[in-house]
Amino acid sequence: SKIVVLISGGGTNLQAIIDACTDSNYPAEIVGVISNKADAYGLTRAKNSDITAVALSHKDFASREDYDQALIKEIDCFDADLIVLAGFMRILTPSFVQHFQGKLLNIHPSLLPKYQGLNTHQRAIDAGDDVHGVSVHFVTEELDGGPVILQAKVPVFEGDTSDDLAARVHEQEHRIYPLVVKWFAEKRLNMQDEHAVLDGNIL
Ligand code: GRF
Repeated sequence: SKIVVLISGGGTNLQAIIDACTDSNYPAEIVGVISNKADAYGLTRAKNSDITAVALSHKDFASREDYDQALIKEIDCFDADLIVLAGFMRILTPSFVQHFQGKLLNIHPSLLPKYQGLNTHQRAIDAGDDVHGVSVHFVTEELDGGPVILQAKVPVFEGDTSDDLAARVHEQEHRIYPLVVKWFAEKRLNMQDEHAVLDGNIL
């Protein structure tokens, strides 16, 4: 399977998938990485691994709709089977989501449906949660609302800062995202009627 990865920042999840792809048994390859920020370190990670890296700045477009149309064009050039959002900090328009229906994955640093949106680690701490985590889900038009595929939990310890917790969650992100991408590439995973289905079972 051909994957395009969308990023806005450091790209440690991108790196985890790049690393997974170096295994000759891994069923997917990253054909392109696109960032809405030209200085995203993830673009350097892509180039270091000889992957085509594209900066497409949202600031060069008058509207969200215009940007997303340009992004669709760019992604379509890669003829990708799957689009992986890995720290892509943009809300996507309905027409974008519809264009790639069932082919869009996102990773969100909370145990969805808890803590949609930003600052998830601090919110978990402030709520006094003793368990926090990360979710990989299909993208639908509802922000952070698509069907969850896989979650990993981490403990929250007393005195944890948001950074402590983020680091603990990141380790799990790097474990579960390549796994979900593998399932998709093996055609074991798809979205049916806004349900995530793995090996014929609704998750
Ligand atoms: C991750 O925490 C991910 O869950 C969130 O954005 C962050 C991206 O980190 N959506 P990185 O750029 O992959 O290091």
